[in-house]
Amino acid sequence: MAASANLNGPLDADPVPTGSTAGSGAPEPSGPAVNKGTESRLQKLAKRNLWMHFTRMGSYEDHEVPVIVRGEGCYVYDEHGRRYLDGLSALYCVNVGHGRAELADAAAAQARELGFYTNWSYAHPKAIELAARVADLAPGNLNRVFFTSGGSEAVESAWKLAKAYHAERGEPRRHKIVSRNLAYHGTSMGALTATALTPLRVPFEPLTPGGVQVPNTNSYRWQEDRDELWAADAIEEAIEFQGPETVAAVILEPVQNGGGCFVPQDGYFQRVREICDRHGVLLISDEVICSWGRLGYWFGSERYDYLPDIITTAKGISSAYVPLGAMIAGDHIAEPFLHGKVAFNHGFTFGGHPVACAVALANIDVIERERLCANVLANEGALRGMLESLRDLPIVGDVRGAGYFHAIELVKDKDGKETFNAEESEDLLRGFLSGELYRRGLICRTDDRGDPIVQLSPPLIAGPEQFEEIEAILRPVLSEASERMERWSSLSRA
Ligand SMILES: Cc1ncc(COP(=O)(O)O)c(C=O)c1O
Repeated sequence: MAASANLNGPLDADPVPTGSTAGSGAPEPSGPAVNKGTESRLQKLAKRNLWMHFTRMGSYEDHEVPVIVRGEGCYVYDEHGRRYLDGLSALYCVNVGHGRAELADAAAAQARELGFYTNWSYAHPKAIELAARVADLAPGNLNRVFFTSGGSEAVESAWKLAKAYHAERGEPRRHKIVSRNLAYHGTSMGALTATALTPLRVPFEPLTPGGVQVPNTNSYRWQEDRDELWAADAIEEAIEFQGPETVAAVILEPVQNGGGCFVPQDGYFQRVREICDRHGVLLISDEVICSWGRLGYWFGSERYDYLPDIITTAKGISSAYVPLGAMIAGDHIAEPFLHGKVAFNHGFTFGGHPVACAVALANIDVIERERLCANVLANEGALRGMLESLRDLPIVGDVRGAGYFHAIELVKDKDGKETFNAEESEDLLRGFLSGELYRRGLICRTDDRGDPIVQLSPPLIAGPEQFEEIEAILRPVLSEASERMERWSSLSRA
């Protein structure tokens, strides 16, 4: 949005644009203030014809659209040739980094051989090979792979499969899905029902019936005397309240993105697994972000040692060089659909596109050959240490996350954990931080869907050199943000 490079303080900040998607949590970087006379052709066309996702497009009336034209390793370049450290892996996607010729070559070779064939009743070699490779890497008996074009489709598919599975087993009333507050599971109507972010849901109601929300694992905001596993137990309460015979599945991320990298408490997933088993409810692990090395393991569920019935994935499976997602189902879930005339009546034309599957195979080769999971495990401590070192700044309230997926929560008062109100948060994130970080060459996410956070999720090839660069930008910018908010507070007290 209208994040500006204006450093003059709250009273001089850009006016809040109207028609906003406040609370959408869009990363909303923005380029410098626009000079209409010298605007590039791309700028003009972007503003005239491109409908940007989750974006207050009005913000670009007087600011440049950040147009990223090229990438190399951990860095991307804009249309003016400026270099940015991609601390967000292009929205948690580009796990192997930018500019991998081998992935481009895999796409070209596949397009030449077989540009497209579908997986509806037919199959093609790359989908078969990728399904086998994914099954081999996936934990436990998760051996059946249903491809999609992205994460929302994977979540949509998992919920539909959960319903279809229960129906095949004589429990057709099981249709509800339990998800956690502030969780993001996608935007198609089914996935949106699991997405527990009010500003994203309310404009599109009524949603698909059957969404049930439970607390998340944000212990930073818990009373100190809470039982460590109360959030897991709240899932059981919700299932019992709804009537277990109506609940199809619980969907959880290993580390929850929405709200800022909420990690599970020790034993959380084991307790959830027990609860699901006790009530005949399926456990879906939404690993659209947390797989393919993001947490230092092929799958995030391995890090926390639980076995889901279904995993949903996307993004890092192909490092997003082409769109691809998947739902990986346990053998016991696929079993009712493997005999006689039964079919899972669901599909997407492009699910398992041959070019996407070829790229994903090449991508997995890179993750394996370069031991990127091991790189994350070896260096996550350095990333965490760098972020922890920022705790001396008055605005840094909490640091949390795992692997290469971390967030800093920004607070108004560290001791009381007081958060910023909506107006302050708007000024802090959009009036200052987002634009200033970008201007200084760091792409990361500022987000206030929950309490305000700055989130980092660098490519898995990153290491101490990049962490130093991140700190060299984050520290002065957060320090300036602290002062700015302090001035704001004293002005409002005056
Ligand atoms: C956990 C999770 N699930 C689902 C989705 C939706 O994926 P997509 O945007 O590819 O539809 C996302 C997107 O960020 C996600 O983070």
